[in-house]
Amino acid sequence: MIAAIDDFKEIEKDFANLARLAADDAHDDVRLLLARLVRKYRQKRPELAAQLEQTLKNSQTRGVGGVLRRSDFAPTQTAGPTPVDSDSKLALVREFDDRQGLQQPLLSGAVQRQLESIVLERQESGRLSARGITPTRSAILVGPPGVGKTLSARWIAARLGKPLWVLDLTAVMSSLLGRTGSNMRAALDHAKANSAVLLLDEIDAIAKRRSDESDIGELKRLVTVLLQEVDQWPASGLLLAATNHPELVDPALWRRFEVVVQFGKSEPAAVTAAVRRFLADDLSTFAPWVEALSSSLEGQSLSDVQRAITALRRHWALQEGEPQRLVAQLLDDSMAALSKAQRLTLAIELAKSGRHTHQEISRLTGVARDTIRRHAGPSPRKGRGHK
Ligand SMILES: Nc1ncnc2c1ncn2[C@@H]1O[C@H](COP(=O)(O)OP(=O)(O)OP(=O)(O)O)[C@@H](O)[C@H]1O
Ligand SMILES: [Mg+2]
Repeated sequence: MIAAIDDFKEIEKDFANLARLAADDAHDDVRLLLARLVRKYRQKRPELAAQLEQTLKNSQTRGVGGVLRRSDFAPTQTAGPTPVDSDSKLALVREFDDRQGLQQPLLSGAVQRQLESIVLERQESGRLSARGITPTRSAILVGPPGVGKTLSARWIAARLGKPLWVLDLTAVMSSLLGRTGSNMRAALDHAKANSAVLLLDEIDAIAKRRSDESDIGELKRLVTVLLQEVDQWPASGLLLAATNHPELVDPALWRRFEVVVQFGKSEPAAVTAAVRRFLADDLSTFAPWVEALSSSLEGQSLSDVQRAITALRRHWALQEGEPQRLVAQLLDDSMAALSKAQRLTLAIELAKSGRHTHQEISRLTGVARDTIRRHAGPSPRKGRGHK
């Protein structure tokens, strides 16, 4: 009789505990407690234990097949190095350490302001918490390829004095099916324990793979894990995600990010600034051609701009020709993509800059010298304006 009363008291206590955690929305703790209760009541109250275990299994969020292990809940307490301690994590997380300094990405004013806010909120988190507000904990960066999403994530981390950890979801998905849920979980736990800035790159990879029937269960589990993580990400860390296929991202997941940063196509001013930046030490050599290069690269991503300019610098470094001929070579490719009207506009701009003869311009743009003269007046004498 006494034993039964004791039992009852125990159950009352556990019930009250469970209710408190549930009311606090402390999902992880609820599951931890449930796992403990399953073990505790397995002997004395097998039916109750079975019920609790079923609830756990249904939640399907931790471990393979919903089986819980104590270690699932113990965050790895190693500060510093990226998680490389087990084979599974090795492939999943990459680190960018730009704390030595990283040039500010070239972005539109609006995007720049959003990124600055994320950083400022962290730096002034004391002022926010005094009013009971947390800084932005999660943000998703959206936009076409090569416009600086990953670079911006690196920049944010560097500004916060941290390395950027990148969880490559494509790698998660492709190489480790069957174990992806638990592996991802381990990587996320590690990031949280270290208050890291974590980037979920190509977050659409999960959605894209949904069409593949064979691993639907696995994917559902992954999305569920992510949903919870985004919701519960601690304010000590920062969770970033990037995608160039927003339409493929699960709407429920999308909604959970606190801030959406929309990257547009690179603006002409950004392309010019990028041409100058990527020319680096060779800027003075190619200064007369900056406008021509910028106009012909207009509309391309800054990643493409970088590739083109780096190729130009390689040719120049190997002395494969005069600057003008190398520029002409580069423009040749992009000229083909320009309409006749665009080429004419470029030719007129170049003529008006007074830095090039009409012969040079004609060779670059394919616009006849007569046409250039009609629009821009007579050609300057050869050599004028060149350095
Ligand atoms: N806004 C930018 N400012 C300066 N450099 C840029 C910018 N965007 C791209 N670049 C250059 O191009 C490289 C690739 O950019 P990044 O990887 O950040 O693009 P992304 O938007 O993440 O593309 P993807 O969607 O393909 O992953 C950068 O490392 C940088 O050298
Ligand atoms: Mg990227």
